[in-house]
Amino acid sequence: MIESILNALAEPAMLLDAAGRVAVANPAAQDRLGVWVVGRSYVSVLRQPSLLQPVEEAFAEGKPGVTRFVHSTGAVETLFEVTVSPIPVPDGRRQVLLVFRDLSEARAGESMRRDFVGNVSHELKTPLTAIMGFIETLQGPARDDPKGRDRFLALMAQETARMNRLVSDLLSLSRLEGQSRKRPTDRIDMAALVSETIGMLRPGAEADAVEIRFDAPASAQVIGDRDQLVQIVSNLIENAIKYGAHPGIVSLSLLHIDREPVLRGPAWRLTVSDTGPGIPPEHVPRLTERFYRVDTGRSRTQGGTGLGLAIVKHIVNRHRGRLRIESVEGQGTEVTVILPAS
Ligand SMILES: Nc1ncnc2c1ncn2[C@@H]1O[C@H](COP(=O)(O)OP(=O)(O)O)[C@@H](O)[C@H]1O
Ligand SMILES: [Mg+2]
Repeated sequence: MIESILNALAEPAMLLDAAGRVAVANPAAQDRLGVWVVGRSYVSVLRQPSLLQPVEEAFAEGKPGVTRFVHSTGAVETLFEVTVSPIPVPDGRRQVLLVFRDLSEARAGESMRRDFVGNVSHELKTPLTAIMGFIETLQGPARDDPKGRDRFLALMAQETARMNRLVSDLLSLSRLEGQSRKRPTDRIDMAALVSETIGMLRPGAEADAVEIRFDAPASAQVIGDRDQLVQIVSNLIENAIKYGAHPGIVSLSLLHIDREPVLRGPAWRLTVSDTGPGIPPEHVPRLTERFYRVDTGRSRTQGGTGLGLAIVKHIVNRHRGRLRIESVEGQGTEVTVILPAS
């Protein structure tokens, strides 16, 4: 009976019998702490004084307790909060129930939030400091210099636009986080959407000596959110333009796959490739992290926020799709987005 209750718990849990041996270890406990624990004495299983003492007190005095326990397997350390509950048995002795709660997950979340706030503050502080400097110059040395004034105002406009982009990207991310479980519902033709997005970006690309090529299929139906799909396509094309070759070519393709193995169904595969210098392999897995850039200075001068691919990743996830980035140094980068076909 108690065994089936413990087995139903998501947290690791163990029952120690009156002799101090592990009588039951539920699947979560066997998974997280090792199968070998069943039948062994708790002293050899738990070993850490922080946990042994409350367990001894629970056996001896029937006193419940809460304590911490660090479990390490290889390089991974997990911090658990352990609830120690004595359970009286008919012969007057006691069993002890241990329930483990993983605190590392909660801690990782906390430290990610701290990093994020730190990054945002830093990203906003840089343009703000620049703008404050320009204001001081305009109030002082450049007060009676009309040419200098125009130049400083142009720089201020540039920095303000950067802050504006950053705030818009942050808002997009926070909206996406709120929607992650809500699937989009509109029928969208990706072929038309990609062509339209290219139309919007072509003038800028031409100014950068970049040619955009796209062989559009007649139609490509997916279920999606129009604005978000435009955001994916324009982010990827903008990256290919910014970080690709000049002069260079950005090629897009949109292909139907009858049965996509990972999505287990029909899909559309969008690829955006450039002929740029590529990305060193050690950076590739981290590009979708917020604020991660290969070359921060270059991204900033190009007006980047470091959030583009993080947003793309979120949108692809919300559409139950897949994102893949492949790059060969010296040859170029290819980003693939796979979306389930409708
Ligand atoms: N096509 C590409 N070629 C080379 N590097 C790229 C490419 N796309 C993205 N990157 C790298 O990935 C980083 C993160 O991209 P992104 O999240 O869009 O941020 P941003 O473009 O604002 O810097 C970029 O700063 C750049 O270093
Ligand atoms: Mg970008």
